[in-house]
Amino acid sequence: MIILAIETSCDDTSVAIIEVKSKKQKAKNANPEIKVLANLISSQIRIHKKWGGVVPNLASRAHAKNLPIVFGKALKEAKLKIKDIDVIALTIGPGLSPSLLIGVHFARALGCKYNKPIIPVNHVEGHICSNFFQKFDNSEIRNPKSKTKSKIPNSEFRIQFPIMNLIVSGGHTSLYLMKGYGKYQLVGKTRDDAAGEAFDKAAKMMGLGYPGGPIISALAESYKLTAISYQLTLPRPMINSKDFDFSFSGLKTAVFYKLREISEKEEITKNIKMAIAYEFQQSVIDVLISKTISAAKKYKTKTIAISGGVSANSELRKQFEQKAKENGITFVMPPKDMSTDNGLMIAIAGYYNFLAGNISTWDKIDADPNLKL
Ligand code: KG4
Ligand code: ZN
Repeated sequence: MIILAIETSCDDTSVAIIEVKSKKQKAKNANPEIKVLANLISSQIRIHKKWGGVVPNLASRAHAKNLPIVFGKALKEAKLKIKDIDVIALTIGPGLSPSLLIGVHFARALGCKYNKPIIPVNHVEGHICSNFFQKFDNSEIRNPKSKTKSKIPNSEFRIQFPIMNLIVSGGHTSLYLMKGYGKYQLVGKTRDDAAGEAFDKAAKMMGLGYPGGPIISALAESYKLTAISYQLTLPRPMINSKDFDFSFSGLKTAVFYKLREISEKEEITKNIKMAIAYEFQQSVIDVLISKTISAAKKYKTKTIAISGGVSANSELRKQFEQKAKENGITFVMPPKDMSTDNGLMIAIAGYYNFLAGNISTWDKIDADPNLKL
């Protein structure tokens, strides 16, 4: 079957087309053979950069302009016509309402004119599903368990339920216990800012640009490589709280006060910004890892999976892998280019929803900016 996926929940206009072949399509945990025919993203960073964050109305205008173009390019790359598409997987929420609505309108039009079923997808589930796919290079992969050769996503060999999922992005910082496909239990969430949002705001305060995550990560890396040492500490919010909730707005405020305190004594040089970036990033990493490992232990999960834009952070990936290993828990993460928003993760989530029978039509779908998992 051919799945077309549309993702416009924030500031990336993404369209993916996948071909799924599965002999056991009805089976619950069928290992699908997934071939990516197209996975295109039109980023709006250039538009939102000067505002230091995503401006919803500008985002929706850009989606409206770019979505038909990205869609056309994806079909061309996949060498397909609209009639070849079997179903449309569509992000309906959570996200920015003006952005989501562009995707919804577009899918409605396609569904109505070409009589295509629509699979509504939760964006957060999309991030989770980025771990159920590893870049598939068309070569045969040997399944160590069954000793048969099959073309299946190799991450499936390592992922065992139950999974403790940390979704960490610009809009979300949540822990979901996942007992199987489509079975989620929220065990912790941020009480204020998402971790990615804190990265973006801290970067803005230091005049570093947008999005803040990759910029802070690069500065922190440079700090590690230099001989400079600037003594400063930032808090690790809620690291010792008994629950699995997060809070990052206090950390952002701590950066603000630290910058003010230093600027009263000396000029804020690039070296000082590097030291702040390093300490800020380590604070976020410490909290995310500590809470996730505790949650995984409490719920006795076999796997920890991270996803969302912040999961592209190299230091977080490295330290998580190490800590999970020390605790004897299998750790998985998506390829870096699937951490941030993309259509491919929506296509994969769409496939699992299709297996579960969550299929709708153009006249029944709508955007839900606060959609819960
Ligand atoms: O998943 P995503 O593309 O969009 C949302 O669903 O929010 O995540 C975007 C967020 C931004 O806040 C960005 O600063 C952050 O992910 N991000 C990173 C890195 N790359 C992107 N944060 C830390 N380190 C990175 N390397
Ligand atoms: Zn996202």
